[in-house]
Amino acid sequence: MDGTADDAHELRDLTRQLRGQLLRHAMLGTWAAPGGASPRVAASGAPELGDPSASQDSGTSPDAGHAAAGAPIAERAPIEIAEDAVPVATDDAPIALGRKTLPQIRAELGDCTRCKLHTTRRSIVFGVGSPDTPLMFVGEAPGEQEDKRGEPFVGPAGQLLDKMIEAMGWTRATVYIANTTKCRPPNNRNPQPDELAQCMPFLHAQIAAIAPRIIVALGRPASNQLLDTNAPISALRGKFHDYARATDGVSLKIMPTFHPAYLLRDPDKKRAAWSDLKLVMAELARLGIAPPHPPRA
Ligand code: URA
Repeated sequence: MDGTADDAHELRDLTRQLRGQLLRHAMLGTWAAPGGASPRVAASGAPELGDPSASQDSGTSPDAGHAAAGAPIAERAPIEIAEDAVPVATDDAPIALGRKTLPQIRAELGDCTRCKLHTTRRSIVFGVGSPDTPLMFVGEAPGEQEDKRGEPFVGPAGQLLDKMIEAMGWTRATVYIANTTKCRPPNNRNPQPDELAQCMPFLHAQIAAIAPRIIVALGRPASNQLLDTNAPISALRGKFHDYARATDGVSLKIMPTFHPAYLLRDPDKKRAAWSDLKLVMAELARLGIAPPHPPRA
């Protein structure tokens, strides 16, 4: 790691800490963002990762899972990517290498027809959240609700994911959430290799743009794609793995854990998932990165 990369990341982490402090002041009413909404104060107490009432999630194993119907819990409007602010690509060329901004990546994705999923999708579900967060979550693929709304994790699994994120002291708006594919596979089947081959480069580009310090990989498909392995989630979760494509010489750790849709089907596994998330919180603290809200740990 060279000194320039170190300095850049130190500056970035300081900016994040400052932002966290400003958010805390906004919560306490001691500071108000000019023209901005202050985040809601998270409820305190033990983490309650309880089930939303209805679940139509598919998949039956910890290594599968999608969300379906349900309403999102949004703390504040997610950061919008102004799609009309950048030219939209008209061809389906593979993504060009090099670090780009999220709007540039979105523009390059265009009205994507690179794989067959475009024939059945309603929306391209690009991703949501903060473009410079230290904490990112990656799931498998949009489900029905996500396809309808154009936003990842807005069904029952998404509601549980929101609770998990909030228990850690973060919110949908202060982390970044994306999937290994941006279009819904028909009937929530797993994404196929040709679809992943077209779509993963865009996720890697998003990761390079955001440069998070930790990615929580939700379930086996996301973990396998990010770590280039075929190992089951039980063998991967509970420990940090290195993301091989770390940019700027700065390490990026991946924490695989159970997919929230699996946790809805097997709530006994929530304890293990929470212990994974506590490792993430401890590592962020070790890096000097404070969450915007007090965690419920
Ligand atoms: N499951 C996922 O993996 N991603 C979503 O966006 C929704 C459900």
